[in-house]
Amino acid sequence: MTRDPRTMSRRQLIRHSAWFGAAVGLAVAGGEVISHVASATAAERAVARPALRFAQISDSHLGFTGPANSDVTKTFAQAIDQVNNLGYTPDFVIHTGDLTHLSTAEQFDQVKQMMGGLRTPHVFTVPGEHDSVDDAGQKYRNAFGAGTRGDGWYSFDIAGVHVIALVNTLNLKKLGHLGVDQLEFVEKDVARLSSDTPIVVFSHIPLFAMYPDWGWGTDDAGQVLNYLRRFSSVTCLNGHVHQVFSKTDGNVTFYSGNTTAYPLPHPGDGPTPKPVTLPAGKLRDALGIREVSYQRGTSALALKESALQ
Ligand SMILES: [Fe+2]
Ligand SMILES: [Fe+2]
Repeated sequence: MTRDPRTMSRRQLIRHSAWFGAAVGLAVAGGEVISHVASATAAERAVARPALRFAQISDSHLGFTGPANSDVTKTFAQAIDQVNNLGYTPDFVIHTGDLTHLSTAEQFDQVKQMMGGLRTPHVFTVPGEHDSVDDAGQKYRNAFGAGTRGDGWYSFDIAGVHVIALVNTLNLKKLGHLGVDQLEFVEKDVARLSSDTPIVVFSHIPLFAMYPDWGWGTDDAGQVLNYLRRFSSVTCLNGHVHQVFSKTDGNVTFYSGNTTAYPLPHPGDGPTPKPVTLPAGKLRDALGIREVSYQRGTSALALKESALQ
């Protein structure tokens, strides 16, 4: 990349600096050009500072025991550390479910206590099916349901973005289901919003058909997406599948997030999605966290995936 920053428009420079920041620094080592580029870079920093930054963690499965991860508490603690060392304070952290493995009171206590160590003003959650094993999510709601509606769904506005958190894991016989109450909630919730409001949707199970044979889809998500069709940007973030995956459908982009516990097979790899045991030393590369940022004036949110360090 040898473009001369002096002949670039500010917009080009911003783009150039974002990708080739170090190269620009070297290319302009001298005289007046430095101050020119330095001021543009300062402007770029001001422009580039996102209006909203948050982190996503998922599928910590506290209480899981098995060869796929002999210490899920440790890997979850590492994920929390990593979020606490991003170099900025995320505006919030979302845990997209399967906080616990078996929904015991002890596991809920433990996950709540550990997430209390996240350095962020807000921690949000949605339940996974592992958080509603024997009581349709009652213990989950006792621990994390404060301020939520219905069976634990909610929405809020932050930095010009509208966030909706959905629950599609309560019925263990019909996994990936929202139900009429929740569909009605979404319809009313977004009615007042202007179509240029960026929308972010959290759910545990994907709202797109990632692999329905394994319960990796939500049967009535289409209705929610109909309510969101008129918005210029819709970003759906989910857990459950323990791997990074994305798919775009018109104005909506779906992003499955990584786990902090153990990998699952790729869709259709084998008869059932059983925990995958990796060779020694390889586990951490398969686990991870996600950063999400939103910049005013842009429509799409930016995502960054990082493996556990
Ligand atoms: Fe999970
Ligand atoms: Fe799950």
